[in-house]
Amino acid sequence: MKALVTGATSGIGKCIARSLSRRGWELILTGRNETALNALKQELGNAETITADLSDREQVFMVYRACCEKNIDMLVNNAGYGVFGRFEESDLEDELDMINVNITALHILTKLFLRDFKKRDSGIILNVASVAGFLTGPLLASYYASKNYVLRLSLAIYEELRRDRSNVSITVLCPGPVDTNFNSRAGVSFSAKPISPEEAAEYAVKKALAGKLFAIPGIAVKAASVAQRFVPHKLMSAIVYNIRQAKKTDSGQQK
Ligand SMILES: NC(=O)c1ccc[n+]([C@@H]2O[C@H](COP(=O)([O-])OP(=O)(O)OC[C@H]3O[C@@H](n4cnc5c(N)ncnc54)[C@H](OP(=O)(O)O)[C@@H]3O)[C@@H](O)[C@H]2O)c1
Repeated sequence: MKALVTGATSGIGKCIARSLSRRGWELILTGRNETALNALKQELGNAETITADLSDREQVFMVYRACCEKNIDMLVNNAGYGVFGRFEESDLEDELDMINVNITALHILTKLFLRDFKKRDSGIILNVASVAGFLTGPLLASYYASKNYVLRLSLAIYEELRRDRSNVSITVLCPGPVDTNFNSRAGVSFSAKPISPEEAAEYAVKKALAGKLFAIPGIAVKAASVAQRFVPHKLMSAIVYNIRQAKKTDSGQQK
């Protein structure tokens, strides 16, 4: 069995690659950091690497072309990051790149691999969203909106596959805080005790291999994903604003 993992150079993606490798899967690892990709390839032994910047649409198609003859059984769309700041102040280019990685690249790879998986009626898609996918996120507005996209797209595809009685499955990982490089990149600190990337990855892999739609690690995050349904939108925005304002770091306004 073979999996393509995006954002495999650190954090959750790296741990998902390790978790699958322990189960005997072959890996195709992507990311921009070639040194980190090669180190993980060396560690796992059963891996290939593709260095690619997923903010560049052409490189996303290049990743697909490099994989489409390789009989991929699982696509893990994990690459992503957040940009902190008031919407009118945050860096436009940085946000557009983020939208390209978090939304456009995930959209392209999901569609192209889904078509291949549907043809042979097998395959697993694991999309990494976030608990942010259930929420409105002032001060991380476009990041939260991007994760809403990932969540809603995955839910819609799940229903289409269910109607077709397809053997292809889609799982959406919605973690709360995870202890990775994410916070330093976004310029925020944790709003709750983080789980480890190993724990998030292991949980996600188990759910994906079991064909479950949701992978929401931790009781508190599960409760939040349910409770948010009963909170009016304006109140939710005010709560998230206060949490985010309290947790910004000095780099929070910078690219
Ligand atoms: N950490 C959290 O609290 C948390 C919570 C919920 C959801 N998530 C989601 O989990 C996913 C993984 O994040 P993480 O927490 O593991 O953070 P991380 O350690 O910073 O990992 C992010 C990964 O995305 C890749 N990436 C970023 N920009 C890229 C680009 N332009 N092209 C290709 N790859 C790119 C990075 O690889 P290179 O730098 O090598 O390109 C890296 O491997 C993200 O989608 C994030 O939104 C994280």
